[in-house]
Amino acid sequence: MGYELDQFISDCHSILARDGGPSGREQVRANLERLLQNPDFIKEHCSEETPRGLHVLYEDPELGFQVLAHINDKARVSPPHDHGASWAIYGQATHYTDMTEWEREDDGADAKHAKLKPVKKYRLTPGHAGIYQDGKIHSIDYPDYARFIRVTGTNLDNIHRVRFDLKSGEVQPMTPQQAT
Ligand SMILES: [Fe+2]
Repeated sequence: MGYELDQFISDCHSILARDGGPSGREQVRANLERLLQNPDFIKEHCSEETPRGLHVLYEDPELGFQVLAHINDKARVSPPHDHGASWAIYGQATHYTDMTEWEREDDGADAKHAKLKPVKKYRLTPGHAGIYQDGKIHSIDYPDYARFIRVTGTNLDNIHRVRFDLKSGEVQPMTPQQAT
């Protein structure tokens, strides 16, 4: 038997209860890669039979972290965005996601405008997970039917987050369920 979702959730809880900082999250990222190696998990939650859409697999009542399955239908390129005061771990289940990490070139003094530069680009392939610690800015680009599991520190719909329009430099608030 492979590493199961229930075990993953219980490990996430004990790790994050002990250490909610970057090193605890890194252990969650490594465990997510283990979970993605389990073909039964992929079949049940990320396969052709899985209904399209965003599925909340788990929300921790005590710590607030969420485990989400993004079962995408259509290809998408997201704008650069942050995860507010939280963090996010992306684990690829099928196909791939091209990730770009960005940094601000300006001093951040203007709340409405920003100048970004790409600092890292890589492709997340099945079985691999990437982590975006608090305040990190990234964008994602995936093809039709790409599926991934995301673990977030909290329900991101409930916190203030921003996205960046690369053309105009505008900083815009993100609305619930918008982008990822
Ligand atoms: Fe994101």
